[in-house]
Amino acid sequence: DRRKESFMTNEQYYDLIVPYQDALNLLKARLDVLNHSMYGNKSHPIHNIQFRIKQKASIEEKLKRMDLQGSFMNAKEHLQDIAGIRVICYFEKDVELLAEQLRKQSDLILVKEKDYITNPKPNGYRSFHMILGIQVYSMESTEYYPVEVQIRTIGMDFWASMEHRICYKQERDNKEEIQRELLRYAEILKEIEEGFEGYNEQNQNEKARLSHKTN
Ligand code: GTP
Ligand code: MG
Repeated sequence: DRRKESFMTNEQYYDLIVPYQDALNLLKARLDVLNHSMYGNKSHPIHNIQFRIKQKASIEEKLKRMDLQGSFMNAKEHLQDIAGIRVICYFEKDVELLAEQLRKQSDLILVKEKDYITNPKPNGYRSFHMILGIQVYSMESTEYYPVEVQIRTIGMDFWASMEHRICYKQERDNKEEIQRELLRYAEILKEIEEGFEGYNEQNQNEKARLSHKTN
C-alpha cells in the first residue's frame, strides 16, 4: 500500500546505503593515491578529507522538499549526494589540479560539475563540486553509484563551515548586514590565500620550470 512506500524502514535504509559506502571507500582510496602521486613526494595537495553517508532523516527531508515520498527507490533515483566526500586542499591551484586528475580517471563517470570558484555564489560561497559515478562490483550486480565530491581550500572550508553554522535554519532581523559581512569575509579570505599562494614553493618551482621552457 501507499503508506509503506512513503518511507523507509531502518532495514531498507541500511540496504540502501551499503553500495554507497562501498563507492565512498573506493573513491577515497583513489584520492589517497592522487594525493601521494600528484607532486611526487615533494608535497601533497590535500590537507584533509571528510566523508559522510547521508542520514535517513536527511534523505527523507530532502525527498520531501522535492515533493517525493521518502522511499528506497526515490532515494536511489533522485539523490546524488547519499555518499559525500569533502576534500580540503591547501591552495586553489591544488583544487584545480585535483579536479583535472579526477576528470581524467577513465573508469569514473563525470555526472555533473559546478565551479563555484570561478563563479562564487552570491552569498560568497566558493567550492568546486563534482558528482562522480563509480562502479561498484558485487555478487548480484555491477552498477555505477554517484558520489558528491566537494573540493575546496582551507579558507573556503573555514568560510563555508562558519556560514553554515551561523545561517542554517536561523531567522534574524539584521540578515542583510550579516550577508554583507559574510561576503566581505569571503573576499578577505581569498586575499589571504593568494598571499600564502605567493610563498608556495610548488608554485615557485612550477613558474621556474615554465620560464625555463620558454627561455
Ligand atoms: P543541495 O540540494 O543542497 O544538494 O544543492 P544542489 O543540488 O543545488 O547542489 P550544490 O552543488 O549547489 O550544493 C551541494 C552542497 O554544497 C550543499 O549540500 C552544501 O554542502 C554545499 N553548499 C552549497 N551552497 C552552500 C552555501 O551557500 N553555504 C554552505 N555553507 N554550503 C553550501
Ligand atoms: Mg546536498
